[in-house]
Amino acid sequence: MLPEYRPRRSCLAVPASSQRFIDSARGLPADEVFLDLEDAVAPAAKAQARRNAIAAVTAGGWQGKLLALRINDATTRWAYRDVVEVVAAAGHGLDAVLLPKVTGPAHIAWLDLLLGQIELDSGGEPGRIGIEAQIEDASGLANVEAIAAASPRLRALVFGPADFMASVGMKSLRVGAQPAGYPGDAFHYPLMRMLVAARSRGLAAIDGPYLAIRDTDGLRAAAASAAALGYDGKWVLHPGQIGIVNEAFSPSQDDYERAELILDAYRYYTEVEHRGAAMLGDEMIDEASRKLALVTAARGRAAGLARCQRFEPGQAMPGPGRPGSAQDPPAGEGLGQAGRQG
Ligand code: GLV
Ligand code: MG
Repeated sequence: MLPEYRPRRSCLAVPASSQRFIDSARGLPADEVFLDLEDAVAPAAKAQARRNAIAAVTAGGWQGKLLALRINDATTRWAYRDVVEVVAAAGHGLDAVLLPKVTGPAHIAWLDLLLGQIELDSGGEPGRIGIEAQIEDASGLANVEAIAAASPRLRALVFGPADFMASVGMKSLRVGAQPAGYPGDAFHYPLMRMLVAARSRGLAAIDGPYLAIRDTDGLRAAAASAAALGYDGKWVLHPGQIGIVNEAFSPSQDDYERAELILDAYRYYTEVEHRGAAMLGDEMIDEASRKLALVTAARGRAAGLARCQRFEPGQAMPGPGRPGSAQDPPAGEGLGQAGRQG
């Protein structure tokens, strides 16, 4: 988790070659929008897509969203002009550059230096523009720890399932869905390995797209699985996918309430009663519970959830599904209350 938690539950891919998609993206409830110059844009349309991206960033109207630019990968002939033309002209309006097909730390070092040169030349704040690194092949995954450590500009690691499936030879054409024949979760290993690398450097972790846009049940299951692991969000390719993904990566109201109560209760027990562990309802809480609660509380606040319960020391806590009467704590332990406000 980043110290300042910016939600990236839904990250909407917008081909920069399409003015219509750019125009409609501004009003959609995605947490992040990225203007794509890479695989959603045909080679002949790359130059016009750069011009569209500059115009879209400069025109503004992206308030409340993170705005990123996916350039072509560092081995292509387009990549340097994507950065030099678009970031030099419109970098002030971009939060991050998304670099696809990162196979090692050298790709990140190249982009970091180039962004630094543009910031120097344009008088921009040094180091402000972030980098999101897309891991989407066997080399990228094998080097993911070094990639995550390659620059202080890094904000997120992003999984690219379509390219990854091709790279490792997965026997399926259904991108983001489980391949037939494998009894477990075929994406567990890359997702978990990337998640650990990301968190070891304080980065966000984002799952990639689910291409069957009408298969809402499949999307919901894929998003729930990545969210359960700890991922911050997932790409979306269509407006109809945004609500499902935002919901999957937001805590439930009950979990959010519980997280805020744990934070309040733990503050009270440590600061007022000078105790490191105490009972909250029928559960013991301690410093590790506080850390876990911080994650859920930050995500709930970022998702706009509001509390309706408050911690009151020394009273019983009627939790969800429990009777209003007190759960007896072990002798000598404190018991917090969540009382309805107002
Ligand atoms: C996205 O870029 C993917 O390859 O899945
Ligand atoms: Mg890809």
